[in-house]
Amino acid sequence: MTRRPFVAGNWKMNVPVAPEAAIDMIASEVDSADPGTPGVVICPPATMISRLSGRGVRIGAQDCHAAASGAHTGDVSAAMVAAAGASHVILGHSERRAAYGETDEAIAAKVKSAWKAELTTIVCVGESAAQRKSGDAVAAVSAQLAASLPKGATAANAIVAYEPIWAIGSGEAATPAQIDEMHKALREAVEKRFGGEVAKVMRIVYGGSVTPANAAEIFALEDVDGGLIGGASLKPRDFLAVVKAA
Ligand code: PGA
Repeated sequence: MTRRPFVAGNWKMNVPVAPEAAIDMIASEVDSADPGTPGVVICPPATMISRLSGRGVRIGAQDCHAAASGAHTGDVSAAMVAAAGASHVILGHSERRAAYGETDEAIAAKVKSAWKAELTTIVCVGESAAQRKSGDAVAAVSAQLAASLPKGATAANAIVAYEPIWAIGSGEAATPAQIDEMHKALREAVEKRFGGEVAKVMRIVYGGSVTPANAAEIFALEDVDGGLIGGASLKPRDFLAVVKAA
C-alpha cells in the first residue's frame, strides 16, 4: 500500500471541554513524523487554529474564502488560516454547500486559492438521500468531484472525502458495500482526470457517522484511506480509537 492512511477530526462549530488537553492527548499517541502511523489533522473553529497549533498535532481549517483579501465581511482567506497555523483546509463540506449554496465551481476556486497558500485541501463530495434512492449516487458524486477538484490536484495537495449527506451526524453510516462502490468510482474519476499515477496515491477517505465501533470495518476496504470524523472527534478517546483502526 503506497497510501498512508489519513484521519481528520472536524469539530464543526463545537469545542471540547478542554481543547488543549484534547490535542495534547492526541499528540501523545500519534507521531506525525512516523510514516508508519496515520496522518492526523484536527480542524477546530477558525478562532482556535493559532491557539491549538504547535502542540504536536497538525491543525486544519474548516473553510476559507477564495479571494486573497477584500470586502468579504466575516470571511477568512487561505493565507490567513495558513498564517494562523493551519496545514490543511476542509472545502465543500455538505453543510456549507447546503447552508451557503456553495457550488462545485465556488469550491474549485477555494481549492486553487488554498493551494497558493500551500494548504492541503480536503475536498468533500457526497450524495443526498434522494440521489441515493433514485440510483444516481455514483454519477452525481463523480460529477461533483470532477467539478470541485481543479486541474493541478496531486496526492500531496489534495485528499478526497466521500461523505454521503444522509450519513453525516445521523448515526447511520453508509454500508461497506456502498462505501466500496463509491470509493472505487471516485478513484476511477481521479484516474480519468489526473492520471493513473495520481489515482494510485491520492487518499480517498470516508466520512459520515464513523465511530470506534464501525471504523475498522470501513477502513479495511481497499479503496478507503481513512476518515473524516465529526461527532466522534470531539471525544479524544473515541477519536484515537478511530485513528488506531486506520
Ligand atoms: P459525523 O460528521 O462523523 O458526525 O457524521 C462527519 C462530517 O461531517 O465530517
